[in-house]
Formats: sequence, C-alpha cells, structure tokens
Amino acid sequence: MTVFADDLLSEKTKLASGALVVEGELDTRHGPILYMEDVSVSFDGFKALNNLSLYINEGELRCMIGPNGAGKTTMMDVITGKTRPDTGSVFFGQTIDLLQMDEPAIAQAGICRKFQKPSVFDALTVFENLELALKTNKGTWHSLFFRLTAEQNDRIDDVLATIGLIDYARQRAGILSHGQKQWLEIGMLLMQEPKVMLVDEPIAGMTHQEVERTAELLLSLQGKHSIVVVEHDMEFVRSIARKVTVLHEGAVLTEGSMDEVQNDPRVIQVYLGG
Ligand SMILES: Nc1ncnc2c1ncn2[C@@H]1O[C@H](COP(=O)(O)OP(=O)(O)O)[C@@H](O)[C@H]1O
Ligand SMILES: [Mg+2]
Repeated sequence: MTVFADDLLSEKTKLASGALVVEGELDTRHGPILYMEDVSVSFDGFKALNNLSLYINEGELRCMIGPNGAGKTTMMDVITGKTRPDTGSVFFGQTIDLLQMDEPAIAQAGICRKFQKPSVFDALTVFENLELALKTNKGTWHSLFFRLTAEQNDRIDDVLATIGLIDYARQRAGILSHGQKQWLEIGMLLMQEPKVMLVDEPIAGMTHQEVERTAELLLSLQGKHSIVVVEHDMEFVRSIARKVTVLHEGAVLTEGSMDEVQNDPRVIQVYLGG
C-alpha cells in the first residue's frame, strides 16, 4: 500500500506494516530522524547503491562526500521517493516508513530537497516567492481570498533575515545574483518548515563571498533542521563539517570528522585513484 499526500492531509493513514502515520507525528525519541539500512539500487545490473546504511540525527548537519558516481544523488532520490530501492528499508523517525509513501507525501511529511539549479520565479519579488512557497505548502494557492496573516508575514520576515535578503524583499527575484537566488530557494524550502533538508551541491557557480555566506547560512540552520549536504568542494565541506560521510561505490567507505576522513588511507586512495 502506498500513502499519497492527500491521505496524510486527512488525519490518519494505516500502513501495510501496521504502523500508523499521523501528520506531524515523528518519533525520534529512540534514535535518528532519518535512516536507511541495507539499501541497494541497480540500474541495468549496475549497483548505484550497494547495501547502503546511513543514520542522520535530529538537528544534525551532515556532509556527504565521495567521487563522481559514488551514489550521492541516488541516495537523495531514494530518500525523497524518486527512486525505489530493490532492497532495504528507509525510515523517517522510528515509525514512518518512507518506502510506503509517494514523493509528494514524503515532501508533505517534512523532507525536502534543494536541487542544484534554482527554480525561483524571476518575475515575482523576493517576498512574493516566499509567499508562494507558503501558499503552495498550505494548499491555499487557489484560494481567491487568501490573505497573509500577521503571523505568516512575520514568518516571511524571519526567513528573509535568515537568508540575508531583507533589503531585497520588494525587488524582483530576476535581479538577484546566482548566489542570492540559491539562498532564496533555501528560504522557499524553509517556508515549508522542513524537518529534513537535503541539499545537493549548494555552492556550484558561487563567488568566494557567496560560498562563505552559504556556509554561515547552513550552520545557522543546524539544530533547527536536520540537514544533509552533498558537496565535493573540500574547503567548503571543511568550513561547515561536523560529521562527514564518505560514499564510494554505493556504500559508506568511512565516517568521522573532516580530519579523520581526509587522513584515512582508503579515502586518499579513492580520491587519488591509487
Ligand atoms: N537513472 C539512472 N539510470 C542509469 N544509471 C544511473 C541512473 N542514475 C544514476 N546512475 C548511475 O549510478 C551511479 C551513481 O550515480 P549518482 O548517484 O548520480 O552518483 P553521484 O551523485 O555520487 O555522482 C553512476 O554510475 C550513475 O551513472
Ligand atoms: Mg550527484
């Protein structure tokens, strides 16, 4: 049985496993907020993920590195429901089985993803982009009489401050720099109050200053959200890293602090192709 987004909006959904999914009910008391165990994905016989197990704690900022083709994007595809694994389990908290849910239901439950290419609306102002993200989330976009409440206005202002774009609130998004557009897109995700944010290569194409600002932004979000960042720029990873996971050939090669993984002979071998 698959749980669809609409089911989550109605109050309760019973999974095939017997677990109960209730919107907003996420049980992290006994462990990680997100985990996968023994997940394998094959494309035409090639194992993009090979018995991958991964545990992300609540509020954690986790960096994932690994050479091209290691399976980083496929891992995100599995978590967000875009790709179904051949084997393994993927859980959100202790009780929510993500393999029983479709892509919109997973997003609705609080796992959202930032793709590389920003998809902000250039013709709308920065404020309106955030407003739109709020409406889309609450399903009220089609409401003719939708007006922002004072509380919603405050939320948009908070997010504007977080992403450093207060001064641009009334400007069209089209005039923003590449880096500012990336922050706006992160802001649009924040409007949806995600519990888990998956961020794939956030600094591609950014200036040095924008990279530094992005590091500060991601660091400011840890604790409030659980964040998984995939990035291959080592200097950037070092600037934000707490725990780093190295993927290789679809599985975890090693995990630890940046110093630990960078000095691990297996990691050096993989990156230098020894
Ligand atoms: N839809 C797909 N069809 C066939 N092969 C794929 C598909 N998606 C990914 N792969 C392959 O799986 C491997 C892992 O890819 P990916 O997850 O994109 O790695 P990474 O993001 O770490 O660079 C690569 O060898 C890639 O070519
Ligand atoms: Mg990738």
